[in-house]
Amino acid sequence: MTIRHFLTTQDYSRSEIDALLTQATAFKRSPQGTQLAGKSIALLFFNPSMRTRTSFELGAFQLGGHAVVLAPGKDAWPIEFELGSVMDGDTEEHIAEVARVLSRYVDLIAVRAFPKFQDWTVDRQDRVIKAFAHHATVPVINMETITHPCQELAHALALREHLGELQNRKYVLTWTYHPKPLNTAVANSALLIATKLGMDVTLLCPNPDYVLDERYMAFGQQNARDNGGSLKVSHDIEEAYSGADVVYAKSWGALPFFGRWEQEKPIREASKHFIVDEAKMALTNQGVFSHCLPLRRNVKATDAVMDSPACIAIDEAENRLHVQKAVMVSLLAGR
Ligand code: CP
Repeated sequence: MTIRHFLTTQDYSRSEIDALLTQATAFKRSPQGTQLAGKSIALLFFNPSMRTRTSFELGAFQLGGHAVVLAPGKDAWPIEFELGSVMDGDTEEHIAEVARVLSRYVDLIAVRAFPKFQDWTVDRQDRVIKAFAHHATVPVINMETITHPCQELAHALALREHLGELQNRKYVLTWTYHPKPLNTAVANSALLIATKLGMDVTLLCPNPDYVLDERYMAFGQQNARDNGGSLKVSHDIEEAYSGADVVYAKSWGALPFFGRWEQEKPIREASKHFIVDEAKMALTNQGVFSHCLPLRRNVKATDAVMDSPACIAIDEAENRLHVQKAVMVSLLAGR
């Protein structure tokens, strides 16, 4: 039997996304339930988290389920992912055993595994979560790898709550400075969900090096065609912000510089003016601002923007709780 996972929203139709958002709204109105009574989820974190861990643990608890949190390599054995590997290095057990053993214990497995930031041709294969999905006999949920689909749903719900109908609203995904090169996952995800919702999307970034992976640009273009929206790239801050209904900020490392980050650093350092501030927000159509969090204040966005009524980042963070309940219940209902 084929197992339905939640690895990327590209595997879900527009109507399936709408159904998850409707279910999430119901959970927001009525947070407690028994839909996960007797069920359990393993949450595997290869990287740190605050929101994702808290919202998944509480979400399972509020619906009568139980979450087990594991950090492989820290409080659980380091895992080997290479097929045929002679395991005489640091790893203690193979994904083939880890995924199958966990599947005997729990009903869902959720995984956070960021890129290694050395070779994008390797990282873009998303090997860790794909290996879990391959070997597990229960549904697998992406808690952020090279996309962040749970964040997408939380973002979409917050936008619907604040703007109502999203069709052809102007959506700006703006790159912002950060002292370190960060994951492209949330940026990829922002493109996927905004285009899936039929918005007119502008990807604003300092230069063509910061355009996202061709796979996600192509998915965005396809989603835009399918849903009556659009997707374009701009390097012009004023043009991008003008008339925007949504400004979504994220920092990410330029893909052509993957593993050569010292060479990217001068470009990033020269682009600190991409910070989201009141002057830029004043160009918008009284637009809302959001970010997935965590956010470095006065680096990515100013205090004034973060503390303004336009900022819906806290609502988006809250929505993680509601949308993830919808995902867990939906995956189990399909079994
Ligand atoms: N947005 C998000 O995933 O937050 P955490 O990294 O704290 O989980």
